[in-house]
Amino acid sequence: MQEAVHFEPDRDGSMLVYGTSGSGKSTVLRTIAIAAAIGRRTENVEVYGLDFGSGSLKSLEVLPHVGSIIPGDDAERVQRVLRTLAAVLDDRGKRFSAANASSVTEYRELTGRDESRIILLLDGLPQFRSEWESTSARMPFYQVFMRILGEGRPLGVHVVATADRSGSVPTAVSSNVSRRVILRLSDENAYSLLNAPKDVLDERSGPGRAIVDGFETQIAVLGGTPNVAEQTKLLGSWPKSCGRAGSARSPRSGRCPPAWRWTSCPTGSASSLCSASPRTRSRRAASTRPARSWLPGRRWPARPRR
Ligand SMILES: Nc1ncnc2c1ncn2[C@@H]1O[C@H](COP(=O)(O)OP(=O)(O)OP(=O)(O)O)[C@@H](O)[C@H]1O
Ligand SMILES: [Mg+2]
Repeated sequence: MQEAVHFEPDRDGSMLVYGTSGSGKSTVLRTIAIAAAIGRRTENVEVYGLDFGSGSLKSLEVLPHVGSIIPGDDAERVQRVLRTLAAVLDDRGKRFSAANASSVTEYRELTGRDESRIILLLDGLPQFRSEWESTSARMPFYQVFMRILGEGRPLGVHVVATADRSGSVPTAVSSNVSRRVILRLSDENAYSLLNAPKDVLDERSGPGRAIVDGFETQIAVLGGTPNVAEQTKLLGSWPKSCGRAGSARSPRSGRCPPAWRWTSCPTGSASSLCSASPRTRSRRAASTRPARSWLPGRRWPARPRR
């Protein structure tokens, strides 16, 4: 039996994605970015990306709820987005506590305001850390990242970060993040270091095959295709159809974009962007183990124990 599993920001806070080279880490971030906006009728969401990887998040920028995808070597814009997020944490800390809200969802219900959820994608946490944790001039910006991990969940600010192995993630980070996706790792011992079962994935496991909560899982891909060129084409058509419905784009200044309501997006196009690929389905069917798709943003169903 296969069941869908999801990232629930109000409950999970932030999330770490582990995987060796080519295992599908950036694709998880892309799926999260797109799924974050699917089916949101009254909520709004803002996504930012810090790309310390190979630049494969860049094409997300065409999406109206994606503010900026910043290459890791653009220090000025990295600082700007982190400074903005620090200000958001300060501001929301006061307002949410005045409203007695313990999550962005509660804040919306209590105040009737459509406060946006913010997701920061960080592709390449080890590289970010080595460049931003070591010098005293940059340390305050690294601390903003740490603040999001520690304070972000109840304030609706979340990080999803990728790393190649457990050793490249400091305990201060991993102890603040309970949600994990473990893709194929470089060797068997690497699974034990993450307290994950060793017999779920091996070197033959395809990209996107993952362990989530000890269960074998297949990450859903945008548009039913793992091909980035095809995905980019699909992404391009999405905001256009939203634009026809009268919506506005987010600014690219590095500041938080204005509220974006997905009521104006055709639901059909949004959900089809995140369906599982035929390859994924056949792989699931061929698997002796149940695999689950990863479509963040909905409730976890009750899971039978295997
Ligand atoms: N869930 C998935 N289903 C099918 N194919 C996938 C999936 N995830 C990734 N792939 C394919 O695997 C390849 C590598 O994916 P991706 O770039 O996300 O890996 P990565 O771990 O970020 O690699 P790197 O370490 O080089 O940055 C891509 O060609 C992509 O199409
Ligand atoms: Mg990558």
